[in-house]
Amino acid sequence: MSTRCETVVGTAADDGASVRASGAARDDSGERYVYVGNLDFFDDPDDVRRYLAAALARATPASPVPSSIAVPGWGSGPRVDQRKRRDEGKLNRGFAVLEFADADAGRAAAAALDGADVNGRALRSSPGVTVKKNDGGDPSDDDDNGGEDEAAALARAERRAHNRRQRRRRKQRDAAALEERLERLMRTHPLWGTDDRAAGEARRFVEADSSDDRYDRYDDDDDDDGWWDDETWREGWGSLYSVWASKDDATGLGFIDWAKCPPAADPAGSNKRGGAARGTRKRLQVESFRAVVSAAATTLGLGPGGSKRRPTIVDFGCGTGNLLLPLAAQHPEADFVGLDLNPRSIDLLSARARDAGLANVAARVGLIEEYEGRCDLALALHVCGSGTDAVLLQAQARGAAFVVAPCCIGKLRDGGLKSVAGMKNAISTADGDGDGNGDGDGDGDWRDDTLVVRPGGGMPHLTVIHPRSRWMRGEVQRPAYMDLAAAADWSGHAGVDAMEAFTGELGRLPRAAKAAVELDRGAAAAEAGYGVRMMKMLHPGAGLKNDVIVGFPRGADPLREHVFGPDASF
Ligand SMILES: C[S@@+](CC[C@H](N)C(=O)[O-])C[C@H]1O[C@@H](n2cnc3c(N)ncnc32)[C@H](O)[C@@H]1O
Repeated sequence: MSTRCETVVGTAADDGASVRASGAARDDSGERYVYVGNLDFFDDPDDVRRYLAAALARATPASPVPSSIAVPGWGSGPRVDQRKRRDEGKLNRGFAVLEFADADAGRAAAAALDGADVNGRALRSSPGVTVKKNDGGDPSDDDDNGGEDEAAALARAERRAHNRRQRRRRKQRDAAALEERLERLMRTHPLWGTDDRAAGEARRFVEADSSDDRYDRYDDDDDDDGWWDDETWREGWGSLYSVWASKDDATGLGFIDWAKCPPAADPAGSNKRGGAARGTRKRLQVESFRAVVSAAATTLGLGPGGSKRRPTIVDFGCGTGNLLLPLAAQHPEADFVGLDLNPRSIDLLSARARDAGLANVAARVGLIEEYEGRCDLALALHVCGSGTDAVLLQAQARGAAFVVAPCCIGKLRDGGLKSVAGMKNAISTADGDGDGNGDGDGDGDWRDDTLVVRPGGGMPHLTVIHPRSRWMRGEVQRPAYMDLAAAADWSGHAGVDAMEAFTGELGRLPRAAKAAVELDRGAAAAEAGYGVRMMKMLHPGAGLKNDVIVGFPRGADPLREHVFGPDASF
């Protein structure tokens, strides 16, 4: 990191001779020079020198003694008349540069002076101003050659450099505070330390299996483990997550023979914009969901021994049906509903379902928050921000199971319908009739159909409040929680290679912050009586947004025999 600055300063040593702080790269020798700002402009430079020396001596008895204290003055001369009125009477430029014997002394002095109180003003100080002598002369001479403007510009540049340093330090302090908060949060989570054995077993399993290439069916980077599944993760937040007990078993549960999937239902065929890579990623996401659904088939009433009533599976925020359609093709014994606020997506979903010959798919335009239909299993794949929270509440309102993989958690918003008014507008605008069903006839028929579970008026619309769980609410206030969510979100980092950043040191905190937000969701469902498992997607190649929250009502845990990890009920 280099600091560029240029300023004209008088020194105590050469008593008024000028030195020029140069744009040389900041290095150790540069840190001999210490910037001190927030001086009173109306103090005489001699007084400033005296009180800075006194402040330094007061700060700590062992304070280093500066070899010079340079306080650039306003000077006098013809240009004085051109000053703005607000500068009239000023005697110094609001900052000084202190010179010390070496960089250690400079750093110690800056630490001692930063925040020190002088006549009721908190000084700002940082090391790292590099100076070199210019051609000498009295600073007041500057006025003869435009030095006044130059000095002001240089002072501004120095102040900007100082502010940059302060911002960097603030960022480091924020990161340290976030890290501390996350550590405290993790240790207060109801699952922390309750099942070390299970977490340990999960860890050993991951380590032992790291050479198992059967699991790497779609893992294009040749890594044996999931990128998230490193030791640090498993020792921390990862110990609160469940791991499939057998990769073979899990891969088998999630397996879809894509060659036999109707092409219109295959996400690999429909993702022209994202190309083949996105298509593959989508397939892996679908298989990850399918593994959970298959493991819980009996509980969900799927398969040959299923329930008498056909289960209804709703894919909330289904888009064009990348998750819904292949699952519907695998499970003709269930009814599937795809719900999305975007009428164009729903049109495409309908067309794809028709082309795939799937008779068990209904496509609905609408808001998750307003859904009033039946639902035995709620699915949500990458539904942004609070949309996922609304899905969890929808499931909870009906005692339905859920499998969700959230995304864009930096976009969390509290609220109910007020906060989604914009989305409602989008629907009525696109639809033209305001009933949100996309058919333009205005009769709102999809809300009256047989899927409505609460006859006689429907349920109250959902309101999402963050944090979601008692656990989280007991630990952090809402603003700090929103900071967590923002820290966890990588979607807004333009120019950053997300995978590299998220998997490396840079991503350590976002990864932990994401786990905290997802565990908050899981904890809220658990507090509502759900058996909950926090998991990662089955295949490493499924992408960065790979947290999966699985919940079954009344504490049920049909996945138990298939996974290692902490107990589902907490
Ligand atoms: C990132 S896309 C994911 C689509 C699909 N699940 C997939 O994985 O291919 C998120 C979808 O959620 C929909 N969505 C977001 N918030 C919604 C809400 N409150 N109600 C209904 N749909 C919503 C968007 O229109 C969008 O189609």
